[in-house]
Amino acid sequence: MQAIAEIVKKHKQEHVLRFIDELKPMQRSELLRQLEQIDFAELDRLIAEYVMKTPEIRIPEDLEPAPFFPLKPRDDEQKKRYAEAAVLGEKLLRGGKVAVLTVAGGQGTRLGFDAPKGTFPITPVKGKSLFQYFAESITRAGIKYETELTWYIMTSKLNNEATRDFFEKHNYFGLDPENVIFFTQGTMPAIDYNGKLLLAEKNSLALAPDGHGGTLLALRRSGCLDRMKFDGVEYISYFQVDNPLVSVVNPLFIGLHAMAESDMSAIMLAKTGPFEKLGNFCISNNKLMIIEYSDLPDELAKARNRDGSLKFIAGSPAIHVLNRKFVAELTKTGSLQLPWHRADKKIKYVNGEGKIITPETPNGVKLESFIFDALQLAGKTMLLEADRKEEFAPTKNKTGVDSVESCREMLIDRDAGRLERAGVKVPRTADGRTAVKIEISPLAVIDDEDARSHCKSENIVEISSSRESFYLT
Ligand code: UD1
Repeated sequence: MQAIAEIVKKHKQEHVLRFIDELKPMQRSELLRQLEQIDFAELDRLIAEYVMKTPEIRIPEDLEPAPFFPLKPRDDEQKKRYAEAAVLGEKLLRGGKVAVLTVAGGQGTRLGFDAPKGTFPITPVKGKSLFQYFAESITRAGIKYETELTWYIMTSKLNNEATRDFFEKHNYFGLDPENVIFFTQGTMPAIDYNGKLLLAEKNSLALAPDGHGGTLLALRRSGCLDRMKFDGVEYISYFQVDNPLVSVVNPLFIGLHAMAESDMSAIMLAKTGPFEKLGNFCISNNKLMIIEYSDLPDELAKARNRDGSLKFIAGSPAIHVLNRKFVAELTKTGSLQLPWHRADKKIKYVNGEGKIITPETPNGVKLESFIFDALQLAGKTMLLEADRKEEFAPTKNKTGVDSVESCREMLIDRDAGRLERAGVKVPRTADGRTAVKIEISPLAVIDDEDARSHCKSENIVEISSSRESFYLT
């Protein structure tokens, strides 16, 4: 206690111990434990750099759009490469070299849903949760590639317990609990505009998740990196919990990544417009990087090529493959070498009189790190274009763009397209939209190949337009 008191005093944060005498022993040790985990010298640096001044977003002068492997191979040579990559990717999957990782530290707040986002019921017919949908895709991929895929799920302190309870309650959706590993990301203390740590309660700092960049360090601290190494895993298939359309493992992507000897690779999509809320893939100094949508200057976002297409066309759906060894290397000092990003927020706090204050305007700063900043630290990188309709339907808002509604529609469209490519007649309205709500269980189908063989063996040739919905399992 004495030691901590001296440290906080030295760093001009002694107010955090203001209520210490009122606390019960357990509460007291909770606060002291939080304080012990802070590197105060580093905190001083962060406060000076990110809180007391607003860091300038520096856009490199040599910024150019990033080159990428196109959706369809450009020539015969590329065609051959893609074919070889798909074979290699499948071989790596079959050899148990790949693990799945979902970042799920966020709550469903923007959806008006006060629970872990992954528990949100998303599918259009059965109302399966995001977690169930991924679990079923992973089960199917495991069967298809005759391997036991381990699924790493990153939670935050806010939702770890609720997430685990959800899986327990649903028997891990049929997965072996040994192969579903939860690990919790770190936190960063929130700081007010005077550079002072905020108390959320008399016995607790205001702590916020440290951003998905925290995945890397959390993988090490939780022992997950060791487990991966023990299991012989070399590649991590990474995606966000809000995107049910993603291929949980993508043999072509994994294969191209391995062939390029890349440390960290990414999927890109053609943006729908200059200001779509996606990170932008760029290069500077020959390094692949993402500039977040909020940071890309308007004139660059709007810049066009001669043919009228957007110059910075490549948007990020936040789908990556990372090498286990790259993550191990990046975190070997035990601290994270990624830059921090400042977010001004309304942060509830306890004032000097012990009252909880809910501010109406931003009163402080939360710091987050972004996993995509690791691209700049990678030796080699690789970028592959994907078809948005097949890979990306984010669930961010209640309605409108990137919403529950648009996500459900995209799930229906993707499944309808799969059925049609498998030779099934799907009823469509005059304007070409799917006339029946369609949902395919990922336990049965995770790609076109599965759709073809499943429809053939089940003898499905047509979906009647008189039905309201159609569920294929
Ligand atoms: C994010 C990306 C953006 C990308 C878009 C694609 C950032 C800063 N931007 O935007 O480049 O184009 O997704 O949909 O991420 N998460 C954690 N822990 C945290 C913070 C986030 O696990 O501390 C997880 C969330 O659960 C979610 C994901 O990271 O799965 C994305 O977070 P979100 O805040 O929704 O990012 P966006 O602004 O939508």
